[in-house]
Amino acid sequence: MSSPPESNVPAPAGAAAPKLWGGRFAESTDALVEAFSESVSFDRRLWRQDIAGSQAHARMLAQVGVLAGAEAEAIVAGLEAIGAEIQAGRFEWRQELEDVHMNIESALTARIGEAGKKLHTGRSRNDQVATDLRLYVRDAIDELDALAGTLGAVLLDLAEREADTVMPGFTHLQIAQPVSFGHHMLAWREMLLRDRARLADARRRANVLPLGSAALAGTVYPLDRDFVARQLGFAAVSENSLDAVSDRDFAIEFCAACALLLVHLSRWSEELVLWSSPMFGFVRLPDRFCTGSSIMPQKKNPDVPELVRGKAGRVVGDLTALLVLMKGQPLAYNRDNQEDKQPVFDAHDTAGACLRLLGAMLPALVVERAACRAAAARGFSTATDFADYLVRKGLPFRDAHHAVGSAVAYAGAAGRDLAELGLDELRRFSPLVEDDVYRHISLEASLAARQTYGGTAPAQVRAAIARARQRR
Ligand code: ARG
Repeated sequence: MSSPPESNVPAPAGAAAPKLWGGRFAESTDALVEAFSESVSFDRRLWRQDIAGSQAHARMLAQVGVLAGAEAEAIVAGLEAIGAEIQAGRFEWRQELEDVHMNIESALTARIGEAGKKLHTGRSRNDQVATDLRLYVRDAIDELDALAGTLGAVLLDLAEREADTVMPGFTHLQIAQPVSFGHHMLAWREMLLRDRARLADARRRANVLPLGSAALAGTVYPLDRDFVARQLGFAAVSENSLDAVSDRDFAIEFCAACALLLVHLSRWSEELVLWSSPMFGFVRLPDRFCTGSSIMPQKKNPDVPELVRGKAGRVVGDLTALLVLMKGQPLAYNRDNQEDKQPVFDAHDTAGACLRLLGAMLPALVVERAACRAAAARGFSTATDFADYLVRKGLPFRDAHHAVGSAVAYAGAAGRDLAELGLDELRRFSPLVEDDVYRHISLEASLAARQTYGGTAPAQVRAAIARARQRR
């Protein structure tokens, strides 16, 4: 292995480490600036993408005759070895080399000599970093999609298990009509399906290669951009070099998809927090996903859903940070864009963790079927069914609504559900009531009657599950 070659430009007196771009500078970077402007402490996470991008670029340079075949081979192998070092935790990251790109490039030159200095031919860090981040976002989307798929399957199983479980459905958080617990799980799953579709859509626009745009204007070398795109699995090459180096829409779209995903997970979490409270008592969360209180011995706290709800705020913040980051930027690349990485990483990490946790916890959710049913019965959730019954017997809906309202007030005062009132009691509110009324105002009857496509009748819930399983 060759030793690091001497730079032809002498470093200025007193300089710490010569910069890769140091040729025109008369003094070394202020320590404050170095610490302020470095990004390697966080963008080192892009090392895999950076190496893949550089290898593709080097192979292409050889293909078009800008590099000798042996030079490209040395670069590819050198980068491979550096990747192995990084993977093993043996790579020495240096803050004075600013970012992941220059750390890897200078390690390459130290390792393979002259050929390493040729890697950056026809390339700029501007198109390099844009490429790396697109590759990263693509990988992140694939990972999140797989996790969301697993969670969706968990919901489907839960829906199947609880298709016949009656619970109160709410509007305004007031008991509205009985619904199937399984139906509620399928509602969650619909949100998740849209999230996956949004991620897939974001992936399509992220999957375009900026490399070859160089600093902002393209380059004088006869690059074969399609070759690089094929190597890296990009579906297309960017159309405009100015846009390609400066566009971060793909990062914003990724964070937007993550933010909306987290908003959904937060809504579910809010329900889990409510349902697991003894005030509701609809579900029990597994002990291993809860914590106790250091002072109140009776407490079992739903920390996981609470944290998911809280973390939604972070991811909305990540999206906001990127939107504000971009809004004032003139074309083309500006250093502001270095600030794009942490929000993307954070959105990725947070969304991944939340999907993982809910996917692990929900299969062990215990549904307290009796408590769910009792709550639906307590809340006069079949009042609409009673009104619909009177309508079928010939009463105009408004009159039926009024009659049932009076019956609810009466039953409430008596501490009983509608279906617990006797026939003579019910007839006080309308002479149209006959003894077939009980076949309509029981919880199970109410549920089974909602047979519209996408409705809550257990038969419809099962049909929806069957359709979902077929589609997969
Ligand atoms: N670390 C920089 C970033 O994240 C890389 C690009 C720097 N380009 C430049 N012209 N200084 O955006």
